[in-house]
Amino acid sequence: MSKKPEISLNAYQNLDPAKAAEKLGPSVDTTRFAKAAAFCARGRDDLAKRGYAPDGKKRLRQFSIWEITKYLIPVAPAHFRRVLKANENLPQGEGTAGAKWFTLDEVLTLRDHFAAEGSAAKEYKPYRPKGQPAKICAVANFKGGSGKTTTCAHLAMAAALDGYKVLVIDLDSQASMTSILGGQVEDEWKTVFPLIAKDYALAVQAENRIREAGDLPPLPLDETLTEALTVSPRNLIQKTHWSNIDLIGAQLNLYWAEFQIPVWRMGLRSWSLWDALGNFLTNEGILDDYDIVFLDTPPALGYLTINSLAAADILLVPLGASFLEFDSTGRFFDMLYSTFASIEEGENAQRRALGLTEVKFEWDVVRAIITRFDAAQQTDLANVIQAYFGDFMTPYRQEFTALVGQAGEQVNGIYEADYRDFNRDTYLRGREAFDRTYAEFKQLLIGAWWRDVQAEKENADG
Ligand SMILES: Nc1ncnc2c1ncn2[C@@H]1O[C@H](COP(=O)(O)OP(=O)(O)OP(=O)(O)O)[C@@H](O)[C@H]1O
Ligand SMILES: [Mg+2]
Repeated sequence: MSKKPEISLNAYQNLDPAKAAEKLGPSVDTTRFAKAAAFCARGRDDLAKRGYAPDGKKRLRQFSIWEITKYLIPVAPAHFRRVLKANENLPQGEGTAGAKWFTLDEVLTLRDHFAAEGSAAKEYKPYRPKGQPAKICAVANFKGGSGKTTTCAHLAMAAALDGYKVLVIDLDSQASMTSILGGQVEDEWKTVFPLIAKDYALAVQAENRIREAGDLPPLPLDETLTEALTVSPRNLIQKTHWSNIDLIGAQLNLYWAEFQIPVWRMGLRSWSLWDALGNFLTNEGILDDYDIVFLDTPPALGYLTINSLAAADILLVPLGASFLEFDSTGRFFDMLYSTFASIEEGENAQRRALGLTEVKFEWDVVRAIITRFDAAQQTDLANVIQAYFGDFMTPYRQEFTALVGQAGEQVNGIYEADYRDFNRDTYLRGREAFDRTYAEFKQLLIGAWWRDVQAEKENADG
């Protein structure tokens, strides 16, 4: 008797729909989400009790003489040691004579010393024209996972190591940047939300003064708006474990702003909703307190991203060298065009009629940048992408580096990682990837400042 050959079925074949239906459970209504959330909250507390939650306090590692003299202060190690010996009041570092380690604050003090006493031919401190406001850099792309937060965080840390004073604002309710910087954000009142509310409340107050003069009833200011009027940057800006990086963090509730902003705008059509963040940075003196403000944005062209883009002087658009990311970045530029052109058009018809100055969005510079680049696989594609973007793209490509993912829970990215934890070549290459990303950005930054200074001089002369 011949046996039928046995066919082994795959997991997805010959399934029984009746049994499958049994496993589904009853259909789901909205209250089930509340139940799931309540269970998660209990589980979260349970895990925290068992020690799984990060303690929330981040500490920055120290820097060795090797790292300081190789990357941070351009002097030879032997000279560095001589200067420390000759100046007892300078930080002397921790550890044995051969291997001394310094905190970031100590590195900054040492840099100040070299800048004051060292050779005038060397640049110990980065270019920063006096009297110019901080430059605002937004990192944005509609495409998720394109390297926005990684690029933004590494730029902020590289700039801080270079001696700039940095403010980072997290506009993404996923709050990845906030957790990288160890931020503590209880609710939306510790995010940019109240600043946007305040901008609207001020616009309502201005409108009501006009209404009062015309004997019209005032627009209402509800509790949220009244409270927002009392918010100042000091309520929001927090220190981080980087002494020269401050943060305005994000939290899940920040997403609410995406629903609230259009409602406010309907209540008062003359409110320039895209200007709220920029107004706050300019009018509350923030731009005088910092050198650079970095804005990390969500993967969407919502109102928070529009605010970030409108506030920015420098716009960086990270994308991977793949067909899909290229395609989606092209659409992102198309959306930027239609969004900002329609704001200009919508506003200016009325403004022209009233003889007011017209709205015109302008950026110092915009650059797409390839991230997570794998030269062995992606060079051809990247060359084509580069050719189409032309000078809208930096020729430098940020390489893929395993170090970004490997750094761990408490440590984020290459600047926080201790080089002794890695193979030396891996470290050097990973660091080079982000040092060069920073170098590209710094060119844009100092070029933009320099151009502003020249323009001011020309205005003064002419
Ligand atoms: N140069 C790099 N080398 C290796 N991995 C990288 C690099 N840049 C980013 N990544 C990784 O790619 C993933 C996405 O990066 P990231 O979170 O920065 O993207 P994003 O654009 O901010 O995402 P989202 O749109 O969700 O905000 C992360 O896992 C990150 O660690
Ligand atoms: Mg992100």
